[in-house]
Amino acid sequence: MRISSAALILALGSTAVPAVQAAPLPSFNLGSIISSVLHNSLQEVAQAIDGWNQAVEQATDAWKHGKVTQFNALSFVRKLASKRYNHSVNWSKSTKFPGWKKWKANGVNLGTWLEIETNYAPSAIPAEFNEEWTYCETVGKAVCGPVLEKHYDTWVTPSDVDLLSKYGVNTLRIPTTYAAWYDVPGSQLYHGNQQKKLRAVTEKATAKGMHVIIGLHSLPQGVNFLQIGEASGHEGWWFNQTAFDYSLKVVSGVLDFIQSSSNPSMYTIAPINEPSNSIQTFASPNTVHYPDGVNWLMTYLRAVYAMIEERKMGTWLMQNDAFMGASYWAPLWDKSDRIVIDSHFYFFAASGVYATYTGQIACGQAQAAAEVDIPIFVGEWALQSYYNNSLALRGEIFNTQLYAWQTYLQGGAFWSFRYEGTDNVSSGEGATKDYWSYKNLIADGVVPAGGKIVGSYC
Ligand SMILES: *[C@@H]1O[C@H](CO)[C@@H](O)[C@H](O)[C@H]1NC(C)=O
Ligand SMILES: *[C@@H]1O[C@H](CO)[C@@H](O)[C@H](O)[C@H]1NC(C)=O
Ligand SMILES: *[C@@H]1O[C@H](CO)[C@@H](O)[C@H](O)[C@H]1NC(C)=O
Ligand SMILES: *[C@@H]1O[C@H](CO)[C@@H](O)[C@H](O)[C@H]1NC(C)=O
Ligand SMILES: *[C@@H]1O[C@H](CO)[C@@H](O)[C@H](O)[C@H]1NC(C)=O
Repeated sequence: MRISSAALILALGSTAVPAVQAAPLPSFNLGSIISSVLHNSLQEVAQAIDGWNQAVEQATDAWKHGKVTQFNALSFVRKLASKRYNHSVNWSKSTKFPGWKKWKANGVNLGTWLEIETNYAPSAIPAEFNEEWTYCETVGKAVCGPVLEKHYDTWVTPSDVDLLSKYGVNTLRIPTTYAAWYDVPGSQLYHGNQQKKLRAVTEKATAKGMHVIIGLHSLPQGVNFLQIGEASGHEGWWFNQTAFDYSLKVVSGVLDFIQSSSNPSMYTIAPINEPSNSIQTFASPNTVHYPDGVNWLMTYLRAVYAMIEERKMGTWLMQNDAFMGASYWAPLWDKSDRIVIDSHFYFFAASGVYATYTGQIACGQAQAAAEVDIPIFVGEWALQSYYNNSLALRGEIFNTQLYAWQTYLQGGAFWSFRYEGTDNVSSGEGATKDYWSYKNLIADGVVPAGGKIVGSYC
């Protein structure tokens, strides 16, 4: 994901300048909501979902959380970093997924395909609209539907799987809207043939030994106030029973898709992305508020996990870390649970990071992140640095991150396969698409041939 630069500086920079002027925070009282609404309703939810009859247990153990991880990027810059390495990586490939403790991902995101992010897929919908929600709301589904279907047919095609496979890609992270899985009453997001188009790509990918992560970027009523969470300004998913009910129906849809595929072992479900119950604290150590937000999120994630168990699928659940780090969430799960943490490591908003430092920082940060006993996957990364972006440095920055994520962690997925925004980087040379588009990086000779790493800082 990429949000406006002002909000990002607030979010990730070390000098926090509030970009969003503080509006009064809604005061949540989860305790009373739970007793008046959630407790009864969750029993009903369970009964409402086909094939799933477990009662949802509400989480009340947010206090078990670990410490928030805050990386000081500049602390990883080594004074004498002239030494560089070449490696040959034997990327995992399998027709039966060995689990996230063993898998090493060389991944790419098929972003803004089955969820629209207009800042880097400007051709997806007419330019006067900046998100799917307002577009479909304004023109109606009969008009927005065919336009979106055309985007689904063209932005990614099954033949792209061949291209990615040639470069050693063994993992696809595919974000979707919830509307791909369930037609939620009142939602303006389009429910069409997403699953059919996804199927054509995932069948081809899994036949080639690739692992597929199906992501829910949005959930009913909005998970983070951003376009990607449903629509700008929406965060009604939090503490709302109706949204919770529908979310589990959406999850059922994803699990049905996996179970009806030709190789169900080749899928992971990522049931929420960059959750935040307050935009004022998005991408901060307080992205999900303690304890109410944490309890709500864990209630949902554990319900999803219970659904997987109920179906005896053996599927792994990928939990996005909400920029708080794997250490925070690990103690909230049992060690034997099939949980992998998804962390998003970006340096374009990391204050003070020059492109010449980025490789060294990636090595240090990967090593530091690995200090917790739970598999970690870098679900989003790209090449843009905060200062002095340089086209010539893209190779070392790409190679180093590719190597570091899989050496110390379980690998990652570049964000994103296609990126067609036209804005220039704010510091240094080139346009953002020179640093964010895997397809352009292949064309520019930056992506190394499968398995070969050249000039890594570690
Ligand atoms: C790494 O590979 C590059 C390109 O093939 C080569 O120029 C360089 O000398 C190699 N470096 C080491 C340390 O072997
Ligand atoms: C690469 O890994 C596969 C199993 O993942 C193994 O069968 C193969 O021998 C390995 N190749 C090399 C060159 O190490
Ligand atoms: C939850 O969301 C629904 C649908 O938007 C709304 O009607 C309801 O009032 C919300 N419930 C609470 C407790 O906010
Ligand atoms: C950043 O770019 C400026 C202008 O080209 C240059 O003077 C400076 O040395 C660069 N700094 C680093 C750390 O690369
Ligand atoms: C980007 O930079 C180039 C060259 O510096 C300039 O010609 C172009 O107008 C800029 N594009 C935008 C969208 O700012």
